[in-house]
Amino acid sequence: MTRALTIDALRVSGRVEAAQVAWPAGPAAGTVRFKGVGKTYRAGSGDVRALDGIDMDIRAGEVFGIIGRSGAGKSSLLRTINRLEQPSQGRVLVDGQDIGRLDEAALVALRRRIGMIFQHFNLLSAKTVRENVALPLRVAGVPRPERETRVTEALELVGLKDKGDAYPSRLSGGQKQRVGIARALVGRPEILLCDEATSALDPETTLSILTLLRDINARLGLTIVLITHEMSVIREICDRVLVLEAGRIAEQGPVWQVFGAPRHPATQALLQPLLKGLPEDLAARLHAERRSPRDEVILELGFAGQRRPDLSALAGALGRRGRLLTANIDSIQGRAVGRVLVAAAPDADLARLDDLCDDRKVLGHALAAND
Ligand SMILES: Nc1ncnc2c1ncn2[C@@H]1O[C@H](COP(=O)(O)OP(=O)(O)O)[C@@H](O)[C@H]1O
Ligand SMILES: [Mg+2]
Repeated sequence: MTRALTIDALRVSGRVEAAQVAWPAGPAAGTVRFKGVGKTYRAGSGDVRALDGIDMDIRAGEVFGIIGRSGAGKSSLLRTINRLEQPSQGRVLVDGQDIGRLDEAALVALRRRIGMIFQHFNLLSAKTVRENVALPLRVAGVPRPERETRVTEALELVGLKDKGDAYPSRLSGGQKQRVGIARALVGRPEILLCDEATSALDPETTLSILTLLRDINARLGLTIVLITHEMSVIREICDRVLVLEAGRIAEQGPVWQVFGAPRHPATQALLQPLLKGLPEDLAARLHAERRSPRDEVILELGFAGQRRPDLSALAGALGRRGRLLTANIDSIQGRAVGRVLVAAAPDADLARLDDLCDDRKVLGHALAAND
């Protein structure tokens, strides 16, 4: 089955012209199922158990994030999807097909359905952008006229239409990764695997690559599986996220849920950099017990995507002199996730606050700052 798409408003360079792209897509194409997947590396110093008992599904057309500390098994897991790594136990099914059973020819065909991009781009420096992008098609024996059309189409898709004759050394990091993406897409895959694809890029370029990946996901409907150590990347573009810890699944779920209320210590540790601590001046004034009737109560109100931060209701509950101290609320998949620090006046209705946030913590008491 093919689906015609009009690429008319791709926000990549502002110079993309309308183009018709025919993209093959079957029903529910691009699903991955892991069944009891384990991986043990035989190393000189002893066996390394990189993956253990992985059971989970990646749905067609979603952007699926994999996070975890260094060495948690993220790359190993990703690489079982195109059989760059062979599981030691269990099975990996792509669109229902057990890929462990594929013969060489079928494996080659599978890999054509799965594109991959890397942190260091892996471009051939002696070849032009067009030649780099054309490479998978050459290997697949696609005739030249079709190759040319598809390369043009892929370069258009990533906003590099006028860089076809350039050599990689003349490109910026972001442009090199766009070439990497074009090369991964030129075979019209159902699944795109990204292993730390933005880790070598500055924040602004990272954002433009993420926007591109999100657009590609929306326009072409392909499944994207991405590994990153940048939590903001997950927050920006993923639908669901899996947290790996020492080769096992620590937790998984929609991003708003996992980020809003991380349950596993590994997730909490990964998300720590996103959290703002208590302001220093306040920490210095904070004490555990109420010392004076005029003391304020310092509270942390957590929003985990269940409730909306209702400012007027919060203000009402905080009392006449209630104050906002810091606020760190993100909108993830349309849900409010984050925390707010407030100072509640002595007349505040603390019990009512429980209905207005997802989690309320008393951090301590402090003499009102202006007393
Ligand atoms: N080819 C290999 N041979 C031996 N050990 C490996 C190999 N690849 C990965 N490992 C080990 O497996 C574990 C998981 O590695 P990896 O999947 O690369 O983790 P991550 O991508 O989360 O950093 C690590 O302990 C790593 O050292
Ligand atoms: Mg890795």
